[in-house]
Amino acid sequence: MEKTELPPRPPLFDFQGVSMSHYFTDNWEKIQNFQARPDDILIATYPKAGTTWVSYILDLLYFGQTAPERQTSIPIYERVPFLESDFEIHPPGTELADKLTTSPRLIKTHLPVQFVPKSFWEQNCRVVYVARNAKDNVVSYFHFDNMNLAQPEPGDWNHFLQRFMDGKMVFGPWYDHVTNWWEKKQTHSKIHYMFYEDMIEDMGRELDRLCSFLGLSPSAEEKERVRGGSQFDNMKNNKMANYSTDSVMDFKISPFMRKGWLR
Ligand code: A3P
Repeated sequence: MEKTELPPRPPLFDFQGVSMSHYFTDNWEKIQNFQARPDDILIATYPKAGTTWVSYILDLLYFGQTAPERQTSIPIYERVPFLESDFEIHPPGTELADKLTTSPRLIKTHLPVQFVPKSFWEQNCRVVYVARNAKDNVVSYFHFDNMNLAQPEPGDWNHFLQRFMDGKMVFGPWYDHVTNWWEKKQTHSKIHYMFYEDMIEDMGRELDRLCSFLGLSPSAEEKERVRGGSQFDNMKNNKMANYSTDSVMDFKISPFMRKGWLR
């Protein structure tokens, strides 16, 4: 039976050489045996690198015209299931992904590349990876861990920053994550490696590159709709994109969409 309240914050532990919390390992067998489909698109990131932003863009690109009601009726975390999550108060990510009837399925993961279920490689799925600079990434992660009750206790900033530099974060070291995914891209042509900062600098250009990778050719009007719809303020004010419907987060502490590029 699903619970309605989360237990106390989980501890970090070493899992096959990577720091993890049990919310992402409890369902391990089903994660590893997950059956990807050839047209699945995996959105892979280190936490807080812009996952929701790219998820939202992909959802708009694929379903913005055929199913526009998705944007106002289904939270982004249901449209784009979080593969390895098993939060007890929600169905596990593998189950949500299995139930998706839309095509392509958009699936989110924070797994280090060595943990990605092998069927994604066997099916030669497209992967969109997003990296963000370490400084903004860790600041965002700190605020997130304060407001997300399913994350380990963050402690104060100094302690958190030290832990980040030691690589003792959920999903392991930032450096290993971004570099190992970069290495994988050298042998797997279907990885599109993006940078959060490039999207801030020129979203039109990044959208063109993304569409070219996906084999999509939206009209100029359609691209403008995606670009405009995924702007920070629009997403921040959209309950279906800003996670305000997710009970594992305490918005009294901090919003999910905090500052973005506004420093
Ligand atoms: P900040 O905490 O710095 O504000 P993720 O989705 O991987 O958890 O990443 C969340 C971070 O991406 C947050 O950063 C959030 O504000 C930022 N973000 C989400 N949508 C964005 C957008 N449309 N434009 C710029 N930043 C965005």
